[in-house]
Amino acid sequence: MIAVAVALAGAGEGDGRKSETPERERTGSIQGRMMSDTVHARRVETRAGRRDEVGRYGTAWGPGVLMALSLLVAGCQGDRVQSVLHPVSPASHAIATLWWVLLAVCGIYTAGTFALFFYAIFRPKQEQAAPSDGNLFILMGGVFLPFVILLALLIYSTHATTHLQTPETGLTIRVVGHRFWWEVEYPEYGIMNANEIHIPVGEPVRLELRSGDVIHSFWVPQLHGKIDMFPDLTTHFWIQADRAGIYRGQCAEFCGVQHARMAFHVIAMPPEEFAAWVAEKQQPRPDPDAAVFQRGHPVFVRHRCVACHAIRDTDAVARAGPDLTHIGSRRMLGAATRLNTRENMRDWLADPNRIKPGVLMPPTENISEEEIEALVDYMLSLK
Ligand code: CUA
Repeated sequence: MIAVAVALAGAGEGDGRKSETPERERTGSIQGRMMSDTVHARRVETRAGRRDEVGRYGTAWGPGVLMALSLLVAGCQGDRVQSVLHPVSPASHAIATLWWVLLAVCGIYTAGTFALFFYAIFRPKQEQAAPSDGNLFILMGGVFLPFVILLALLIYSTHATTHLQTPETGLTIRVVGHRFWWEVEYPEYGIMNANEIHIPVGEPVRLELRSGDVIHSFWVPQLHGKIDMFPDLTTHFWIQADRAGIYRGQCAEFCGVQHARMAFHVIAMPPEEFAAWVAEKQQPRPDPDAAVFQRGHPVFVRHRCVACHAIRDTDAVARAGPDLTHIGSRRMLGAATRLNTRENMRDWLADPNRIKPGVLMPPTENISEEEIEALVDYMLSLK
């Protein structure tokens, strides 16, 4: 595009003789060169290139501009959920700055290119007649300038990636992507969780990433870029949050029908709060003497929940589905699909497919009212 416009502007400039060409023919040939491979071009040419036709095409721009604007505005999220442009870590700052620099440079260059483009078409006749050195113009604007700009951007972007390298860090978290949820393990603390990653603020956290089935991609836009998760290969990554808060992450590689609802949250807390969270999650649980356990756990076993889920310190040890040891303290259900309320928990247990069509968890069949209440109580008690 840049080369075409520069060549167009330059070609006319060094080509003064053409000013003798009849108006109709000349305009037609410029328009032909403009967009020879589009339907538009054919339509313009068949209309014999009358200059006023260009104006008439302006009416079709209205809906186009509206559509482009609505797309642009759709990106403006007031609550800053999952936005690359609201970074809270050194890596995401580097990525966001790179994005702005690329946008500015490319935006200015594109504007300049279009200015030349329209100048070539609409400049006054007497200027078209004046001969000038078109070749030098093409060489500078079409070759030298793009080369310098691209080289500068290459050096800058390569330097920016130095901020993305994994720093030395203490805390390691293992995350395994499953269709369609996230297994989260703290090997040094013996804590298992799902769809929520608690981290201390201000410290880089190392991630060991793997997939339990197909390829997924780990992405928390406010904390870092994306990285793929493979079944047979452990990838290493890191995240950091410089501010306490809850940051939404999302699977970024199409992995099946519920790919879009394969989300999670990173919960960044001050270091002392994080230490308290770790200590709390390490407590033995659940209390085998509690009435809620005595009523709920037999239902959990009888209705085959035990075939896929684990609850620490019980006979439930399967790992096909999320570990439920801390299910009661999670903010959301179904990989950040619904808030973890009593009502949603009940709906989820009865038939998860109604909330998340395509989920691999089957409905709990032939369960009585009394049983499901016992099961909901039990789940919510697992803090
Ligand atoms: Cu996992 Cu998309």
